[in-house]
Amino acid sequence: MTQDLTAFIAGLPKAELHLHIEGSLEPEQMFEFAQRNGVTLPFDSVEAIRAAYAFSNLQDFLDIYYAGAGVLLTKADFHDLAMAYFRRLAADGGRHAEIFFDPQAHTDRGVPFSVVADGLLSAMDEAEKTLGVTSKLILCFLRHLDEDAAFETLKQAEPYLDRIAGVGLDSSEVGHPPSKFARVFKAAADKGLKIVAHAGEEGPPEYVWEALDLLAVDRIDHGNRALEDEALTKRLVVEGKTLTVCPLSNLKLCVVGDLTDHPMKRMLDLGLKATVNSDDPAYFGGYLNDNWLAVAKATNLTRDDLITLAKNSFTGSFLSKDQIAEHMAAIDAYAAAN
Ligand code: ADE
Ligand code: ZN
Repeated sequence: MTQDLTAFIAGLPKAELHLHIEGSLEPEQMFEFAQRNGVTLPFDSVEAIRAAYAFSNLQDFLDIYYAGAGVLLTKADFHDLAMAYFRRLAADGGRHAEIFFDPQAHTDRGVPFSVVADGLLSAMDEAEKTLGVTSKLILCFLRHLDEDAAFETLKQAEPYLDRIAGVGLDSSEVGHPPSKFARVFKAAADKGLKIVAHAGEEGPPEYVWEALDLLAVDRIDHGNRALEDEALTKRLVVEGKTLTVCPLSNLKLCVVGDLTDHPMKRMLDLGLKATVNSDDPAYFGGYLNDNWLAVAKATNLTRDDLITLAKNSFTGSFLSKDQIAEHMAAIDAYAAAN
């Protein structure tokens, strides 16, 4: 490494493929949106909110995440939320993001699908114009809700399908296997949408098999527990399936006890197409580069590992072949110069 690790990571062209836009809601913004929308929060300071962010598992976090999303009511809220994220991504050297949103977390509170989608899409357009950051939108179904609700959400998305790249599956994993949503994912795929799913974050390797076999996923979100199954790991390597891994999330949700035990290095050494992502940065204590730096230090990633991770973030994206080729050339040029 010819320069400091922090600077090398900061300058490396990279994409983020696992980011819940509602998870980028900072406590300061939560207060601001609550105030302008006349919503009362159960906290009286930013510090009190931050102090509540101590989680022992995914569900602990989700309870607070859905409560926080309650301050998002207007198109301006969704626009401002997404713009704040894109500004931070650009500052981290991020060139592209594929962002998740959870429409059911809003429509179930009476906020129309169109308010959410219009706000996010206008921010995506502005980010491309003013920051040079491209992005794609991925609609996630909440897996703790039922199949009918997912079909209803897909129906609401119909007028926006030309601007939605894919569908995903998130929320409480254990007890809600991918098989529960096989039919709605088939319907989404028939509409030409890309397919991703959270699997193997807390759930067993069987859920990763199901995501592959029953949902025909293009990427696996997280995938940590796939490593418990040798045949599954081999399949993911052979198929070159991208894993969107989230180191600080894994630490904060106790998927790993310590970051030095994080499987990132092992994943790369096995030939898995791992990527680094922030998941819900406002809740887990770090944006994209914080995740890169923390996992690089904790698991002793080499310079070549970092370049591989940067390349994986684009080859695993839903950008066109030409766009990917441009980003690969930019990484090669950066690596040659640094
Ligand atoms: N929703 C937001 N973040 C999530 C995560 N890490 N896992 C599952 N659902 C989520
Ligand atoms: Zn996630």
